[in-house]
Amino acid sequence: MEKMLSIAVDGPASSGKSTVSKKVAKDLGLIYIDTGAMYRTLTYEALKRKADIENEEELLRILEDLSIRFERNGSDQKVYANETEVTEVIRNADVTNSVSIVSAHPKIREVMVERQREMAQKQGVIMDGRDIGTVVLPKADVKIFLIASVEERAMRRFKENQSRGITTSLEDLTREIEERDYKDSNREVAPLKQASDAHLIDTTGLSIPEVVEKIKEIAFSK
Ligand code: DC
Repeated sequence: MEKMLSIAVDGPASSGKSTVSKKVAKDLGLIYIDTGAMYRTLTYEALKRKADIENEEELLRILEDLSIRFERNGSDQKVYANETEVTEVIRNADVTNSVSIVSAHPKIREVMVERQREMAQKQGVIMDGRDIGTVVLPKADVKIFLIASVEERAMRRFKENQSRGITTSLEDLTREIEERDYKDSNREVAPLKQASDAHLIDTTGLSIPEVVEKIKEIAFSK
């Protein structure tokens, strides 16, 4: 059997992971798995049910009955929580502001990692997140660590929000990104960290196609 390619993409919030991963997936015929969307979906469900997001056991019970599914939609992807589509609502500010708390619970991460590994066993994947190269797929064929300056990432979020008709101040976005960087990099379990064998790509000032090409070049050299 031909070996299936696996690509792990990690990096801080708004470093461009999902945009470039989706394009690489399309070009190389891989399945794209957005692990951040999985933590967001659980956060959304917990908030909807008015659960205590500090309470790991309560979150675990919700996760047990929650199937999180991705469905390809042209070059995009839809996210489902059980049978309900949640693609857009999981990007809301209340979810974004609570997801770091939910994703810091060790037992929640254990269940998520198990589900992510299962998905990667079935097909060639490009998976993005914070701990893919270090924890989820330590044997990935290609590991990428994407970074960009805080200013550039805040501006990307600003433009993205604008295109969705959401008004936010650049200052607030900059502060939120800094706070999330801190929480993601300093939590006890699986903090955001570059794997020793990951290729570092600084996307500041690079276009999306340029980053996609760099990743494909690295993948082809394997
Ligand atoms: O990439 P994102 O912004 O959609 O991720 C949402 C949150 O989930 C982010 O604050 C960090 C967390 N996360 C994580 O802890 N591990 C992952 N593999 C993916 C995301």
